[in-house]
Amino acid sequence: MTIDIVILAAGKGTRMHSDLPKVLHPIGGMPMLERVIETAKQLGDVKITVVIGFGAEQIRERFAHTGVQFVEQTEQLGTGHAVAQAIPNLRPDGTVLVLYGDVPLIKSGALQSLLSGAEKGPALLSVEVANPAGYGRIVRDDSGRVLAIVEEKDADTETLAICEVNTGILAAPADLLSRWLPALSCDNAQGEYYLTDIIARSVSEEITVIAVRASDPTEVTGVNSRAQQAQVERALQRHEAQALMNSGVTLLDPARIDIRGRLSCDTDVCIDINCIFEGEVELGKGVHIGPNCLLKNCRLAAGAIVEANSIIEDSNIGKACSIGPFARLRPGTELADGAKIGNFVETKKAHIGCGSKVNHLSYIGDTMIGEEVNIGAGTITCNYDGVNKFRTEIGDGAFIGSNTALVAPVTVGAGATVGAGSTITSPVKEGELALGRSRQRTISDWERPSKKR
Ligand code: UD1
Ligand code: CA
Repeated sequence: MTIDIVILAAGKGTRMHSDLPKVLHPIGGMPMLERVIETAKQLGDVKITVVIGFGAEQIRERFAHTGVQFVEQTEQLGTGHAVAQAIPNLRPDGTVLVLYGDVPLIKSGALQSLLSGAEKGPALLSVEVANPAGYGRIVRDDSGRVLAIVEEKDADTETLAICEVNTGILAAPADLLSRWLPALSCDNAQGEYYLTDIIARSVSEEITVIAVRASDPTEVTGVNSRAQQAQVERALQRHEAQALMNSGVTLLDPARIDIRGRLSCDTDVCIDINCIFEGEVELGKGVHIGPNCLLKNCRLAAGAIVEANSIIEDSNIGKACSIGPFARLRPGTELADGAKIGNFVETKKAHIGCGSKVNHLSYIGDTMIGEEVNIGAGTITCNYDGVNKFRTEIGDGAFIGSNTALVAPVTVGAGATVGAGSTITSPVKEGELALGRSRQRTISDWERPSKKR
């Protein structure tokens, strides 16, 4: 089957009150249009044309890499006019599927049944709603055959009472669309060229129209306002949470998790409340994530524990590592198995070897730390001279006393010890003790200043 997909994305989205084109607004951390394109691609070897108008340049730029084609609709004269702009891109022997850049949760399953119903004539996707206000109504005859779609503004009272509505999504043979669309009239309440008018046209030519009912209304919900965006976002998050639980993940509260990308979990993962996952996150067997954590593009191996209020970004965490509470692991952090990062510790481009510990109040950047190293509280790697960054290297088994400043570039050899409060500016060799601080002076006959009377 030759499938040509046309995605409508020309509208401004006035009710969003935004400078950003509506279809670039995110749902689950991803522009709505990107979700629609991804779903379209699941239908196989399809050709995708996106109809753009408002913010055309921004949309082209954002989606240049996806291989979709763009056609511009300079004036938004209606959905029929919009699809007509794509006619030059349609293959005459194909089936055309019309999707919307602002209906982001549509799934390929529903589309597949629509496509198989559209080989000889149009197939539309309808949905039963409690409140049909704003939608085009599906008009059927007594035997249930679809006769027309009537837009709300053109409907009489009897038609307005119909609760089966048009989702907008439809499929039809390309040759029929190419013939029907240029012949649409705009003689209606909105003065627009309605795509939906092809239904009555098809009926008048005695070509049967198939109506497929969407089983899940959230799949076909469109986003026209910030409130609908939030509603669709929640629906997606509920779905993601359900899928995680179905696969064996413990969520302490499925209503308080946000997945803005892809989260994959091995068995017996437990996630406490208010966690956000962005980009690609992988959690190994038995990983435990405490409350209020943000994890972005990272992989955590089996048994790792992240305690409350920690942030991990572009990092790799080994087996049985322990992180937080209140830790910040910035891009390029690599923790080997069993490493430990405690509270108020920030790391960046840092490799922490097996079993090593940075337990309290430290900054470790551009650093290579060996195995079984202890970094004392308040240790700072001074990696930046205001212009350039420099590296720090610390060998296996070294012990860095509390409140040490390691002025990079600098190395501390294996088994070496640095005394608390030191400022280390030159290399410390294997096994040495380094003290880089002024000697303590003790004055015995000193009196504290007292308040003047
Ligand atoms: C449309 C349907 C209606 C359906 C509803 C579902 C028509 C005439 N009506 O109505 O039956 O119930 O969707 O939400 O099709 N667009 C363009 N160019 C245009 C006009 C629209 O790209 O010239 C895009 C918009 O950006 C939007 C989508 O098409 O994403 C739908 O357009 P809109 O004007 O919102 O259609 P509705 O009046 O909601
Ligand atoms: Ca709409």
